[in-house]
Formats: sequence, C-alpha cells, structure tokens
Amino acid sequence: MMELLSQASAWDAVAIDYDRVNRQFMLEFSRSALKSISLQANWRVLDVACGPGTTSLYLSEFVDQVDAVDFSPKMIQVLKRNIKAEHIDNIFPMEANGQDLPFDESRFDLVVSMFGLMFFPERLQGLREIYRVLKPGAPVVLSSWALAEKSSFMQTLGAAFAFFHDEEATGGAFPWSETADIKSDLDQVGFNSVQIEEVYHEFEVGPIDRFWANIVKGSAPLVDRKQRMTPEEWGGCENRALEYLKSHLHEESVLGTTAWIITAHRD
Ligand SMILES: C[S@@+](CC[C@H](N)C(=O)[O-])C[C@H]1O[C@@H](n2cnc3c(N)ncnc32)[C@H](O)[C@@H]1O
Repeated sequence: MMELLSQASAWDAVAIDYDRVNRQFMLEFSRSALKSISLQANWRVLDVACGPGTTSLYLSEFVDQVDAVDFSPKMIQVLKRNIKAEHIDNIFPMEANGQDLPFDESRFDLVVSMFGLMFFPERLQGLREIYRVLKPGAPVVLSSWALAEKSSFMQTLGAAFAFFHDEEATGGAFPWSETADIKSDLDQVGFNSVQIEEVYHEFEVGPIDRFWANIVKGSAPLVDRKQRMTPEEWGGCENRALEYLKSHLHEESVLGTTAWIITAHRD
C-alpha cells in the first residue's frame, strides 16, 4: 500500500473526491493540531503535502501568506479551484515534492504537514527539508495516523478492504503509527522540544450505501484495485464488503479515528 501512496498518480486519481468526501473531516485534525500555535498576522507559513488545501484554507485567515506544495498536479488544481471559489488571495499553490522543497533556507515562520510525511519514502529527507526552510526557533506541526487498534474507522476499513483480497489495499499499518519512531526521526534531524499528542475525532456513518460509495471514491488503494479488477470481480467483492458493513453498522453508528499530532521547533 505504501508504495502506491508514495506516487503522485495515486493521489491524482482521488483528488476531486478526497476534497468532496474527506476534507471536512480532515479539517478537524488541522484545527486540533494548530490549537497550540499562536498564529501571527505577519507570518509566512508553508503547508507541505497540502492536498486540496485542508490546512492552507484554514490558515489563510490568520496569517499573511501560505505557500502550499503537493506533488499531485490534480490536488494542486483542486486547491486552485477552492482558492478561487473562496476569493482568497494569500495562498500560493505549487506542484513540488516535499523531499525537495523549492524554497531558500530560513524562509518560514511555521511549517505544517498534515498526514503527508507518513507517505514519503525518504521521510528523514522530508524532515531535513522542513528544518532547512524554517526560520531559527520556528515551529513545525505534523501528523500521522495512530495504530488501527485506536481507531474504529480504520478497523472497519481494514475489515471491508479484506474482501478485496489485496495486499496493496489492505496490507499492514501506516508508517509513523508508533510514537517512538516519530520521536526518533525528529531527534535525528535536530528538532527540539518534540511533543506528540493523541487526538481523536469521530463522525456519524449515515446511510451505509453512501458511506461505502464515498470510501470507494476517496480511497487511493481501492481506486487502484478497482482499475485492476474486472467489473464482475469487483462487483462480487463489493457485495460482500457491503453485506459486512450492513451487518456491523447502522445509520446512526459513530466511527472515530486517532491521530498523532506532533509539534517541535527548529534550533
Ligand atoms: C492524506 S493527504 C493529506 C492532505 C492534506 N494535508 C490534509 O490534511 O487533508 C496526503 C497528501 O500528501 C501528498 N503527498 C504524498 N507524498 C508527497 C510528496 N513526496 N511530496 C508532496 N506531496 C506528497 C499527496 O499528494 C496528498 O495530497
């Protein structure tokens, strides 16, 4: 699964639906993550792996300028559409790889990367780049998903994805789901005052058919899997997954997911 999610094309394939289906829920984590940061009106901020602008759009109200980078051209297109729709003039989107940031050193008062670095094949390089472009003493805010045992949503997804008999779609935990690994990486790059906080948000499932349709559209591993199956194979697996969901959930069921919110400072 991680190999797939380290490719821009996998995110291109879900960009529009990620924006439509996931952005609002993901914003809850951005809000929680930024609570401890006293945002200043004159700040220049960088959002790495910005997606459709979940965090950038929120930040733009409080700071002077947000530079937003993502390696998926489609995510950047969706962000540009969102900026236009909301008449925002202080977000500057750019297609770029987070492992090679197109900025000079010591440029930013804050760097944020929500659920981005966990997908980088060279995570330490991504962290070094963030360190390089931060001003001395400036904060960084990062996040990743905790282990599925802390998340009823991840457990439900895992069980439903298992009907697709596919390692790509179902295999293993996300990287950076253990706090010791996160802390060790930040220490290695030289960040100080590293803090890792557990944050949990939940949502009501609603109609199960709609819940499942949204998962299929917004999930890069499932979109990839669908492309590699015949319609008959896909239909059979999908029926079994839906049957499972309908026997375990109802419209008022509440599912939740737990993230690690990481804050640290450059020396
Ligand atoms: C789960 S989404 C998170 C988007 C957004 N930060 C949010 O909180 O909703 C992960 C994003 O990371 C981006 N991404 C993954 N690897 C990347 C890399 N090496 N460089 C830049 N962006 C990357 C993907 O294109 C995708 O938009």
